Amino acid sequence: METEGIYLDNAATTRVDDRVIRSMIPVFSQEYGNASSLHHFGTQAREVLENSRTTLAECIGADSGEVYFTSGGTESNNWALKGIAESNRHKGRHIIVSSIEHDCVLNTCNWLAGQGFFVTYLPVDSSGLVDLETLKKAINPKTILVSVMHANNEIGTIEPVEEIGRICKKHDVYFHSDACQSFGKIPVDVNAMGIDLLTVNSHKIYGPKGIGALYVRKGVDIAPMLHGGGQEAGLRSTTENMPAIVGFAEAAAICLREMKSEAIRLSLLREKLVRFIFAECENAYINGHQVQRLPGHLSFSFHGLEGETIRLLLMLDEMGIAVSAGSACSSNDKSHNASHVLQAIGLNPFEARGAIRVSMGRFTTEAQLNIFTDSLGQALKSLTSIFSGNSIMNL
Ligand SMILES: Cc1ncc(COP(=O)(O)O)c(C=O)c1O
Repeated sequence: METEGIYLDNAATTRVDDRVIRSMIPVFSQEYGNASSLHHFGTQAREVLENSRTTLAECIGADSGEVYFTSGGTESNNWALKGIAESNRHKGRHIIVSSIEHDCVLNTCNWLAGQGFFVTYLPVDSSGLVDLETLKKAINPKTILVSVMHANNEIGTIEPVEEIGRICKKHDVYFHSDACQSFGKIPVDVNAMGIDLLTVNSHKIYGPKGIGALYVRKGVDIAPMLHGGGQEAGLRSTTENMPAIVGFAEAAAICLREMKSEAIRLSLLREKLVRFIFAECENAYINGHQVQRLPGHLSFSFHGLEGETIRLLLMLDEMGIAVSAGSACSSNDKSHNASHVLQAIGLNPFEARGAIRVSMGRFTTEAQLNIFTDSLGQALKSLTSIFSGNSIMNL
């Protein structure tokens, strides 16, 4: 069954590109060998595996021996933090992360704190940028790892990773960055950015779910993620998920080829949406950085209507339009907790429940955006007449 409607939640996940699906099919039914087998099915699978690894490595400026396939962003982030903590605890037990990381980083830090590690949470400014002076002051001789995401999933702000990389290098501290939201959309180069460990995943870039990778710079001391038969250079054992790996590599290669034109197209659509919001809706405000942000991503709120976000999303859903409140995880949270990201940029807990995230992608057209803005206008009009009696709309 094909789901009808307008999908504007590409930061949560994306539709798999037909070209990616086509690349995966032979790996299910013809080239289905186990990459560890010695016979020709196995050697063929190994070749496909290593070609995919090379493709991925080229997309981030790495060597193929530095890329390890995982089950996705959550696993890569868990592995980066726990793996570095485990193998470097003799050097120190201090880890620094930004306060706006994805839950899979923050919850891993909570767990590590229970294992005797000390975690510093870096504050961000009102646009979501990490303060570099605070970072410099936070690093001490016991610091083993700094983890700051490349781009934030809720507000789209792009962090100054090059500068962070330089600071970490100067202090001889490993630098990990979660690039799940930026990879495939804006350039990522581990050398130019001074990144020692990088998390990427496939389902945000029109590839299959359940596959990702962790880049680990050669020479970085990291404990294995899974013990077993020795796959992924002995660091992550399990029979490789070949169809997903092939799809991920194809998805990444397509993104790289189309990145420039797609970034321009999506930025123009986003600017059109910003113009609509400010022209038609008084009291609207944008969350996140005005300029340093992901191309197709916009988070915004309306003063006075923050408490009605879920109602607004449901109204839009009834009109066939899928957008998100904050992040995918928080939208699914029945209690709809206030977003830690929005609170970190200075919103109060009430306001921090009220963001609408529109994330456009490869399959978003201008015609769809026009339908969305019309529908948003209608939904806001009826909401304001029900709740405030004091219209916030210029419509
Ligand atoms: C910034 C960020 N990190 C990590 C993840 C988790 O990735 P995955 O769903 O592949 O586990 C996500 C996805 O929601 C994300 O947006």
